[in-house]
Amino acid sequence: MKQQDPFDWTDDEARHRARAGLVRTLRPRPAEQDLLDLASNDYLGLARHPEVTGAAADAALRWGAGATGSRLVTGSTTLHAELERELAEFCGFESALVLSSGYAANLAALTALTARDGLLLSDAGNHASIVDGCRLSRAETVVVPHAAPDAVAKTLAPHPGRRTLVVSDAVFSVDGDAAPLTELAAVCRAHGAALLADDAHGLGVLGEGGRGTLAAAGLAGAAGVVATLTLSKSLGSQGGAILGPARVIDHLVNAARTFIFDTGLAPAAVGGALAALRLLRREPARADRAREVAGELHRRLTGAGLTAVRPDAAVVSVRAPSPEAAVRWAADCRTAGLAVGCFRPPSVPDGVSRIRLTARADLTERQIGAAVRTVVAAAPEPDQ
Ligand SMILES: Cc1ncc(COP(=O)(O)O)c(C=O)c1O
Repeated sequence: MKQQDPFDWTDDEARHRARAGLVRTLRPRPAEQDLLDLASNDYLGLARHPEVTGAAADAALRWGAGATGSRLVTGSTTLHAELERELAEFCGFESALVLSSGYAANLAALTALTARDGLLLSDAGNHASIVDGCRLSRAETVVVPHAAPDAVAKTLAPHPGRRTLVVSDAVFSVDGDAAPLTELAAVCRAHGAALLADDAHGLGVLGEGGRGTLAAAGLAGAAGVVATLTLSKSLGSQGGAILGPARVIDHLVNAARTFIFDTGLAPAAVGGALAALRLLRREPARADRAREVAGELHRRLTGAGLTAVRPDAAVVSVRAPSPEAAVRWAADCRTAGLAVGCFRPPSVPDGVSRIRLTARADLTERQIGAAVRTVVAAAPEPDQ
């Protein structure tokens, strides 16, 4: 009898993926390419800014290529402390903790700020890292309808006195719509729940000078409010952070497993993020420009008959009729010299496939025009 390989099941799964048009492949990326890039999350065009790359290189030369261990074991550099202080101050929170990614930041907050007998409410459109954080949390998790503070209030009402955390993307990564944070915060306050907002897509884009969605809503530093961030989008680097009251950050240092048992963020990433943050402080118009470009992309794409959600930040999401059509659309754009993102299930909880354009503050008028022309020319027929 033929010996079975214990991973034979992966062939079955690959066949299912192929039939559903959901195969993902890694494409080689050269250091320099001619593509117009509207697929990356480099909203402010800082990932290759000489001040940012120079600071990253200097940090590696001074502190080493890696952090060499958990910051609780090998010590915490002054560079990490500077970034935490400046991030907290910029975004309007008392304190900050930097972790190795935005993903790790969400896992940290969702596991360490919930209790086994507690309650966790998560918006149906939340990012995968929040979904995974909810799975790791021991609290009872309830997925609430997208952007529906009334549904949150109704779910909270029967649980007075229970330790509760409500979690939402501040700007949703798939459609680029902003959460109703003001209403959510009011509901949380009324029911004694804490609010965690993931501002991965708001930092550097929303709020005065890019201070983020929470600052824009007047919620930065408010009691009961915590934020997570990524350093890998508008700050062009890598890493994540949690912002909140000092006592919450102290608790995370002692209880968050993705902080305690994870190697600290690499010095180059810390140095790069710090330089980008200082640059943003100096050039706040970058944030306004990213929003302006997003609005312009949306206006022209919908003007050409495409269906796109009005962007609240810099994510412009355009609907595709099927996963296969989305893949073909993105591929045709690429052939024509434009990189766009392609979102299909399971990355999209509502099962609707999309291509996604990210507005960048450094796009020229000519590039915006070229991008729109390419997307429109490559668009599938509606019933495809
Ligand atoms: C809303 C949201 N949260 C968290 C993350 C994860 O951040 P990172 O890439 O730093 O792990 C992302 C990134 O894709 C995101 O879009």
